Amino acid sequence: MKETIVSGIRASGRLHIGNYLGALKQFVDLQNAGDHNCYFFIADLHALTTPFEPKELSQNTLEVAADYLAAGIDPDKATFFLQSQVMEHVELGWIFNCLTSLGELQRMTQFKDKSKQHRETINGGLLTYPTLMAADILLYKPTAVPVGDDQTQHVELTRDLARKFNNRFGQTFPEPKTFLRKPLRIMSLSDPMKKMSKTGDDPSAPLGAGALMLDDPPEEILRKLKKALTATDAKEKSPGVANLFLLLDHFGTKDQIKQFSEQQKKNTIKYSELKETLAHQIADHFGKFRTKKTQLLNNPTQIKNTLVTGAAKAQKIASQTLSEVKQKIGLLRSP
Ligand code: TYM
Repeated sequence: MKETIVSGIRASGRLHIGNYLGALKQFVDLQNAGDHNCYFFIADLHALTTPFEPKELSQNTLEVAADYLAAGIDPDKATFFLQSQVMEHVELGWIFNCLTSLGELQRMTQFKDKSKQHRETINGGLLTYPTLMAADILLYKPTAVPVGDDQTQHVELTRDLARKFNNRFGQTFPEPKTFLRKPLRIMSLSDPMKKMSKTGDDPSAPLGAGALMLDDPPEEILRKLKKALTATDAKEKSPGVANLFLLLDHFGTKDQIKQFSEQQKKNTIKYSELKETLAHQIADHFGKFRTKKTQLLNNPTQIKNTLVTGAAKAQKIASQTLSEVKQKIGLLRSP
């Protein structure tokens, strides 16, 4: 029997190259390899944990759906759905809230960081983000969760919860691992000490200055890369330069990687050339993606229908797991 994998992306803005390399590209590769049951979803409920506007939220959800589909997620090969359309996520999330200590939730790095960023608007959802995420995952009983390395702590909490649940109520969940080929974190172009993040996540950043969006037109990619922070004197790679080399590793040709690495060692590198090469390679890589995404967004009804069909498929499995959980923890069920 095939093993299951589950992952999600928040509906908090158009996707950037960090989301792509850390998550979406892996989803597409895993789906196409065909040896896993794949569940991929848009975490729109998680998008409510940081400030949002209703109109933007629905537009962002469509954008993220189009990003998934344009990147190659195929609803015939993977179960692709919207979190808020499978209510079992919230129900299991509540049960997990009641099985998790406040201390554990308060210790999560993401909670600490985000509650600093959104000081005036810290809400309960930000604290219980990881228990909803654990529910998202465990409902489908997966063995692995493909995510970027900033999410490993959340997957660890999920594993701990699964183990605790099994010990107390009997074997129910597998203990899923983070599925990471290589720990990967793409940094912001404008502030390379911070991870690249969606506009909605970092209100201090001027409109997406540090993030290359997957559908940015070529001139925008070049403009952002030209402004990317590098240090000029050191032979050592500064965090900004290391980040550009990381991008070159993924989007450059072998010759380009070799050429710029040698120049870097000899200290003859011109960062303007590196940036132009990168801009060209990235713009080229996402050429077909941009066309496909525009076509998809021209027909939002079709996107919505795809999501509804996916939710019905997901719900079949999710409802089985939830009834098993309810029975095991002693919630009374109808005769
Ligand atoms: P989100 O939307 O913040 O991120 C989606 C995915 O992109 C990865 N990622 C990055 N990878 C590399 N470099 C970056 N700069 C970068 N920024 C983001 C994230 O690691 C993630 O894999 N909590 C999840 C959403 C979620 C989820 C789940 C994931 C909700 N429920 C259940 C897996 C399973 C998140 O961080 O989304």
